Amino acid sequence: MDGRLIAQEIKDDIAETIRTGGAEVGFARPGLAVLQVGDSPQSQAYIHNLRTACTEVGIKSFASQLPETATLQAIIQALRTFNGDESVHGIVVQLPLPKKIRPETVLQEISLEKDVDGLHPLNLAKLALDDFQPSFVPCTSRACLELLTRYKFQVERRKVVVIGCSNVVGLPTALLLQRHNATVTIVDKHTPKPAEIARTADILVAATGNANLVRRNWIKPGAVVIDIGMNQVKDPSSEEGFRFVGDVCYEEAEKVATAITPVPGGVGPITIAMVLSNTLLAAQRRDHAKRKPL
Ligand SMILES: NC(=O)c1ccc[n+]([C@@H]2O[C@H](COP(=O)([O-])OP(=O)(O)OC[C@H]3O[C@@H](n4cnc5c(N)ncnc54)[C@H](OP(=O)(O)O)[C@@H]3O)[C@@H](O)[C@H]2O)c1
Repeated sequence: MDGRLIAQEIKDDIAETIRTGGAEVGFARPGLAVLQVGDSPQSQAYIHNLRTACTEVGIKSFASQLPETATLQAIIQALRTFNGDESVHGIVVQLPLPKKIRPETVLQEISLEKDVDGLHPLNLAKLALDDFQPSFVPCTSRACLELLTRYKFQVERRKVVVIGCSNVVGLPTALLLQRHNATVTIVDKHTPKPAEIARTADILVAATGNANLVRRNWIKPGAVVIDIGMNQVKDPSSEEGFRFVGDVCYEEAEKVATAITPVPGGVGPITIAMVLSNTLLAAQRRDHAKRKPL
C-alpha cells in the first residue's frame, strides 16, 4: 500500500480547499503550531517534514523549541501562548517529551478546539465512549483507517489485532477501528502467545517500536498488515549509516499478506497529511463559528 500516493492526494485536496476558500469567502489561512522540547534528530526530522507539508498546502506553520531542561511551567506557558494566538488553529506537541515530564499533564493544556493530534485526555476518552465525538481523532490512527478505506479493505466485522498499546498510537487505533465495528484484540508486552493471537487477524496493526518483531508465522495468509513502527537500525551500506524499518519483517510478510504498508512510505506520510487535514478542519470550524448569525 502506497502511503506517499495517498498522502499526496489528501494534500492536493487540502491545498485546493484552502486556495478556493481563501479566494471565495475570505476564509482565514489555517495555522499550525508545533512545540518541541529537546532536539532529538528524529523529532527534528518529523517537524521538518510537517512544516514542509504545511508550506506545500498553504498552512502557516509556527514553531517553538524549548531546551531538554525546560520546566513544566515553561512548557505550559508556551502552549498557553499558542492557545491564545488567533492565527494558530492547531497545536502539536512533539512526543516523546523528556522523561521527567508527564505527557498527559502537558497535553491536557491544549485547547480542545486546537488539539489537532487528538491526544488531549478528554478527546481520547471521548474516542472510547460510544455516544461522544472527540474534537479530533489521533492522526496516526486516522491514517490507518484512511489506508484501509482508500484501498477498500472492509473493517466492519473484521478481526483486527493491534500489537502495542500506547496512549498515542496503539490504543486510539484500536478504539477507532472498534468504532468502525471491527472486532479488536490488543496484544501488549505481557500478552502470552502473541504470534498465535496475531495469526487470527484479518487486519494486523503493529505499533511497538521493535524492529522486525512481527515475522511470517505471526501473519494469517491473506491478512492486511499495517506497520506503524518506525525503527532506526544500523546500515553501513547507506550514506547516513542507518535506515528505518518497521515492526514487521517486510520481506517475510509480503510473502503471506494480501497487502502491507512499507516503512518508510506507508503510514508516516499519511499521518502528516492527517495533521494538515485536522488543522484545516479546526480553521473551518472557527471560521464557521465566526460567521454564525447572532
Ligand atoms: N508512522 C507514523 O506515523 C508513526 C507515528 C507515531 C509513532 N510511530 C512509531 O510507532 C511505534 C510505536 O510508537 P509509540 O509512540 O506507540 O511507542 P511507545 O510509546 O514506545 O509504545 C509502544 C507500545 O508497544 C508496547 N510494546 C513494546 N514491546 C512490545 C512487544 N514486544 N509486544 C507487544 N507490545 C509491545 C509497549 O508496551 P509497554 O508500554 O508495556 O512498554 C507500548 O504499549 C514506534 O516505532 C514509533 O516510532 C510511527
